[in-house]
Parts: sequence; structure tokens; C-alpha cells
Amino acid sequence: MLRCDLNVPIDNGVISDDGRIRASLPTIKYLVDQGAKVIICSHLGRPDGARVEKYSLRHVAKRLAELLGQPVSFSEDCVGKEAIDRVSRLENKGVLLLENLRFHAAETSDSENERRKFARELAELADMYVGDGFGVLHRKQASVYELPKLLPSAAGYLVEKELSVLEQLVRSDSHPYTVVLGGSKVSDKLGVISALLPRVDNLLIGGGMVFTFLAARGYKVGKSLLEESEIETVKGYLDQAKALGVNIVLPTDIVMASKFATDAEHLVAQVAELEQTSFGANGIGLDIGPVSAEVFAEIVSTSKLCFWNGPMGVFEFESFSKGTRSIAEALTTVQGLGVVGGGDSAAAVRALGFEDSAFGHISTGGGASLEYLEGKSLPGLEVLE
Ligand code: 3PG
Ligand code: MG
Repeated sequence: MLRCDLNVPIDNGVISDDGRIRASLPTIKYLVDQGAKVIICSHLGRPDGARVEKYSLRHVAKRLAELLGQPVSFSEDCVGKEAIDRVSRLENKGVLLLENLRFHAAETSDSENERRKFARELAELADMYVGDGFGVLHRKQASVYELPKLLPSAAGYLVEKELSVLEQLVRSDSHPYTVVLGGSKVSDKLGVISALLPRVDNLLIGGGMVFTFLAARGYKVGKSLLEESEIETVKGYLDQAKALGVNIVLPTDIVMASKFATDAEHLVAQVAELEQTSFGANGIGLDIGPVSAEVFAEIVSTSKLCFWNGPMGVFEFESFSKGTRSIAEALTTVQGLGVVGGGDSAAAVRALGFEDSAFGHISTGGGASLEYLEGKSLPGLEVLE
């Protein structure tokens, strides 16, 4: 039983970034080469225990077969009669993908008993467990945490590779060490900010979360994303950074838009004047401005160690993708280790046309890599033998 993280973005049956599938191949191929019957399980999205067609792993099975160059059979359910049947028909070197684990509420249940019961059903299908779903190791879920306790277990090659890179980020004393954080929510990043402040030289902030930082500095941000309840915490970080001599860099200009849309009217405003554009207090900040993008890129490209998590703006909309593109470009020129951390940032660099090989490493896990950098233990890793 191989637990992968095949949680890829799918739109109308089309996989827009197959990075997590490709990253899972080395372990699958190894197991096939050893003559194993390989049963793969994964989650996709957050269907909350219901069978939701758009979260089916069926399309993933097809793509996996193409990438592996061998047939991949598919079971419409991850446990029960069909799964048992499919497993019994599996030959040595055969590969079977089970339907989304999260179609069963027990996978993500808060009740340990429910998770254990579900894990027992999964365990009956297999003789051994290999944990290779790096992106989900931070979740205490049945297939990640309870299942490996029921079978002899091992970590896969993706987990090994991800950890070796993250360990370099934690252990290395290369400087300057720069961390770039973006994405929409500050509240998701609080842990990592406080854990990293004592270690980094530069902390660059962009994306939706930047408006809470700008508000903490006293700026008005119009209708941009704002987490008012976090303003005080962010003020604390700004003070702490000052005391530690860490350079927290906020943008000085922002791309303001009339609305959240790909064809929105937009213009560049200084951070002190975000409500003084023609959009007034209704303007929404959707990207860092060009001057800020240049300043950020310069700091990134002259770093010896750099970790980036979270887009700088709404990169899916061409007009608001430039900040993210600048960071990605700069990261490819780092003379040292440059790491793209996470699902969204990884999808962003590929959507913007960058090659994986241009970066030191593209992590397949956002939450998992952040939690590791925070110094938290990952439940799915703890339990592997
Ligand atoms: C991810 O995309 O972050 C991982 O696949 C984990 O998914 P989750 O955040 O829904 O648990
Ligand atoms: Mg996630």
C-alpha cells in the first residue's frame, strides 16, 4: 500500500499541474521493479466524506499510466468489495489506484476510533505500507497516521528527498538567508514567521497577506484582503524583527484593481495612497507593484539560501502575475539553494512557464514544508518505521 499525495489541480477533467504525479514516480517504479503488487491510495481536494465526481482520482489514474508507461487499474472505492476484487486480480508488477480516500468521512474524522476502523479496512488489502505522500504528512488522518501503525512500514523516495532539502534549510548557515512569503492568509503563516525570524536575514512579504502587514504599519488598504484580528500579532512580529535585526521587506507599491477579475481596470499606487486612486476605498490590491518586484528580485537573487512559499499576487490573471513571475525568475539565479515550497507556488511557477530544473528544489508540500520549517513534528513521518 503506497500512500501518495496525488492531490493535483484538475479543471473539468484536465490536470493543470501534474507535478505531484511525476514526483511520485520514483517510488512507484522502484516497487514495480522489485516485483511488488502496488496499491496506491491518495486524497484529492476536500470532498468532506462525500462522493464528489470532480474530486475523483480517475483522471489521475489515466495520467499516471501515461507517465509510468504501463496500465494502471482503478477501483471506484478505496475499501470494500470492489477494492478487494481489484487487489486480488493484481499481478506482480501491476499497479492499482484506489479512489479518493476522502470520499469516506472516516479518513479525516476527528474520532481516532473511526480513523482506526477505516485504517483496518485499508490494511487488509496489503502486506506492507510505504508512506510517500509528503504533502500530507502533517495531517493526522487515517491513511497517513493510523494505517502505517498496522503494517510494516517505510518512507518512500519523495519523502526522503523532500526531507533532505528541508533539512538543509534548517541546518545550513549560509547567508544571506531570505524567505519570501505570500498567499492569501497571514493566519496560515504565523507559526512559520515566528519560527523563522531568529534565523533569517530577510523576510519578504507579498500576496494577499501583505495587506495585514501594511495595515499594521498604519496604511489604509481599501477592499484588499485583510485579517483584522491578526494586525496586533503582525505588529509584534514587526517589533521582534527590528529587535533581531531582521530585514522585513514590505512592498512600497501595489497593483490596485477595480474588482477581482482578469479584465479588471488596474493601476500602480504607492502604499501610502492605496485609497487615493480612481477606485477610491473600493480598490483591491491584486499584486505587488513593479518597483517592489524589482527590489524583491534583487534581494532574492543575491541570497545564498532562499525559501519561497505563496504567490505575490493573483498570478492566474495575466495582469496580476508580474510580481510572482519576478520572484520565480530571481529564484532561478540564486547562487546557492533556492526552494519553491508548496502546492500553489509550484503550480504558479509551472503555469508561468518555468522548468522544474531551473530551481534547486520544488517541494510538493506547502503546509507540510512550512510545518517542518516551524520545527513541528510531522505525524505521518513519526509513525514510519
Ligand atoms: C495539500 O495540497 O496541501 C495537500 O495535498 C494536503 O491537502 P489538505 O490541505 O487538503 O490536507
Ligand atoms: Mg493545502
